[in-house]
Amino acid sequence: MLVLQGVTMYYPGSPQPVFSDVNLRLEPGEFVFLTGPSGAGKTTLLRLIYSAARPAAGQVLFEDRPVASIPGHILRRRIGIVFQDNRLLAHRSVLDNVAFAGEVLGRPPGEVRRRAMDLLEQVGIADKARRRPHTLSAGERQRAAIARALMNQPRLLLADEPTGNLDPDNARRIFDLFVELNRSVGMACLVATHAVHLAAGYDRRMVHLEGGRLREGGPR
Ligand SMILES: Nc1ncnc2c1ncn2[C@@H]1O[C@H](COP(=O)(O)OP(=O)(O)OP(=O)(O)O)[C@@H](O)[C@H]1O
Ligand SMILES: [Mg+2]
Repeated sequence: MLVLQGVTMYYPGSPQPVFSDVNLRLEPGEFVFLTGPSGAGKTTLLRLIYSAARPAAGQVLFEDRPVASIPGHILRRRIGIVFQDNRLLAHRSVLDNVAFAGEVLGRPPGEVRRRAMDLLEQVGIADKARRRPHTLSAGERQRAAIARALMNQPRLLLADEPTGNLDPDNARRIFDLFVELNRSVGMACLVATHAVHLAAGYDRRMVHLEGGRLREGGPR
């Protein structure tokens, strides 16, 4: 479902690549944790996958097509993203934030709002549906961002440090939720995280990015 082949990425102005010759293959329904120290390029790697950045060399294929050739509205339907800084819209309610992800793709408002409510139920914050994001705890905001990412029933969920601001119990609940979603709807997940010990407890595939290289397995 996802293939990175010999991918090298530079940011403008930097003589060093963020990473080079990265190879990664994700099967449909697979669950993978992406670890690596701060600055290793985890966010950058995810940005290449959802086509917010382009590699200097190599290929990123999603469902057998180069991501750059996939129209944005199709990519947004197929790939759900939980951003490192959650990016909820401050002036909209939690429910509207989740619904908006479906509305921008032109889905019927009634259907979208029903699904948004179901998703909030599923992530455990249905009682917060009418609230603005800033009135939620960090963990609740993270759940809202996850519900939004699930709006369009993606085949691949990318989550960037989704437990960043959470205590270990809440972090575990978020990972439990991903594992459960992965199991119940067969959505592939690629989860970038610093919570290595927590992730290691899930017995899932881990890949590690460090010093410009990606390799199989957790940190050594
Ligand atoms: N827009 C940008 N322009 C230039 N350099 C950037 C840009 N974004 C990131 N970088 C650099 O690329 C490298 C990788 O950054 P990235 O955000 O991908 O790391 P990360 O692994 O996600 O780190 P963290 O764990 O702190 O989130 C860093 O050295 C960073 O300074
Ligand atoms: Mg990052």
